[in-house]
Amino acid sequence: MDWAVVSVGLILLYAAICIWLHFRYPEPHWDWENIDLDDLAFPPGFLWGSATAAHQVEGGNHNNWSRWETQVDEDGVPRVPDGVPSGRAVEHWERYPEDIALMRDVLHLTSYRFSVEWSRIEPSPGKFDDAAIAHYRDVIVRLLDAGITPMVTLHHFTNPLWFEDMGGFEKAENIEYFVRFARRVFEEFGAKVPRWCTFNESAPYSVMGYGLGVFPPGVKNFQRMAHVLHHMMQAHVRVYDTIKAMPGGEDVEVGLVKNVFQFDPYRRWSLVDWVMVRVMESAYNESILGFLRDGYFRLVIPTKARLVARHPEAVGKTDFIGLNYYANLVVSPFMRTKPPFDVHLRKGQILTDMPYAIYAEGFYRALKQVSTLGKPIIVTENGIADDRDDRRAIWIRRYLYALSQAMKDGCDVRGYHYWSLLDNFEWAEGYKMRFGLVRVDYDTQERHVWGGTKAYVDIIDRFRSDG
Ligand code: GCO
Repeated sequence: MDWAVVSVGLILLYAAICIWLHFRYPEPHWDWENIDLDDLAFPPGFLWGSATAAHQVEGGNHNNWSRWETQVDEDGVPRVPDGVPSGRAVEHWERYPEDIALMRDVLHLTSYRFSVEWSRIEPSPGKFDDAAIAHYRDVIVRLLDAGITPMVTLHHFTNPLWFEDMGGFEKAENIEYFVRFARRVFEEFGAKVPRWCTFNESAPYSVMGYGLGVFPPGVKNFQRMAHVLHHMMQAHVRVYDTIKAMPGGEDVEVGLVKNVFQFDPYRRWSLVDWVMVRVMESAYNESILGFLRDGYFRLVIPTKARLVARHPEAVGKTDFIGLNYYANLVVSPFMRTKPPFDVHLRKGQILTDMPYAIYAEGFYRALKQVSTLGKPIIVTENGIADDRDDRRAIWIRRYLYALSQAMKDGCDVRGYHYWSLLDNFEWAEGYKMRFGLVRVDYDTQERHVWGGTKAYVDIIDRFRSDG
């Protein structure tokens, strides 16, 4: 055998595969210098919103994620930066009337996505707390009075400790407890809330909690992660069916919130990077989208996890798909898998305070990707952590431009929720990341709208159909 010929053949084959992948999975970068960011179009009735999650803003939670915040990892390092717990957070539990007034009078929002805290509503198994239910009822009523439509998330990362200690979503038999909670919440508020999210970001929940071990319960086992994600998907279908069968269930929209991070190869000429990208893309995004689109759950990470199951009952079981989008992740086998994560940045890009760049082109890609479900899209989260307030306006203008372009190109998007209304407790990153439209002074709890937020309010004022 002529080894020279074989070697040349192999090199050509390698190059051909890379070239095919390069064109099959492009990573577009737009020429922002020459784009007219005012070239926008949004239809009347489009929802202009912002989002929060209970544990990140309420303060005073002590029966949920809070336990994790007091713990250290196997090296003795606190689970949250400097061991500072969520504590009082931004006192949204008490200050919600003031915050709703800000949404109405200053930000001009028409929709507010927030989560109800399971550990407050059901502090022990089967015991529901009337005061907590009354609290959320008042939030909903005040929102409606302010002309802001409530959108409720049933599960945003936190579990009551009793549920966590029973094994959480790792056990199929525990799904029942979440369905019971959802049923109760819908009984209480169903008639007043037109849009419901079952789970927020089940992929990050399971990856962070069971794969990378940086969220509770701190497990590092990808097979267990796969089971958790699989159970959450089944719980989504159970909650969907439960709500639909209840009085008023047919009048509301029930959807899943999917976070999309695209994975792009750090080196586009490296097949190793491409293999990682395709494995991660399939495990992180396609596992969930395929479940809802084709009734097929497939999560395979060679040597680490394998779970394949048919679920014909899941096909189409989401009235809308909630999209949380921030950026793409540029990956290679050498990247760090625990905080501080490597920075994902291409030359010429602007970094956010999180370890990823401003990449609005990816928002366009993500909208196209979730459109494959054939369901209306509601953007349930999108926003920047920007402590200097020198990139917030750039983010807002570019991402809304990308959104408008995607809609022009056929994506059926019904609304946009900026993450977040207020600076807040960013899980494993603690209070370092300031994602708010509104800045919060954590000593005095004073609220001041960030300067960059004006870019969002200007766009809302331009397109809000009711003036
Ligand atoms: C998530 C959550 C939010 C975050 C937000 C910013 O993605 O982790 O839905 O709770 O705060 O995405 O990272």
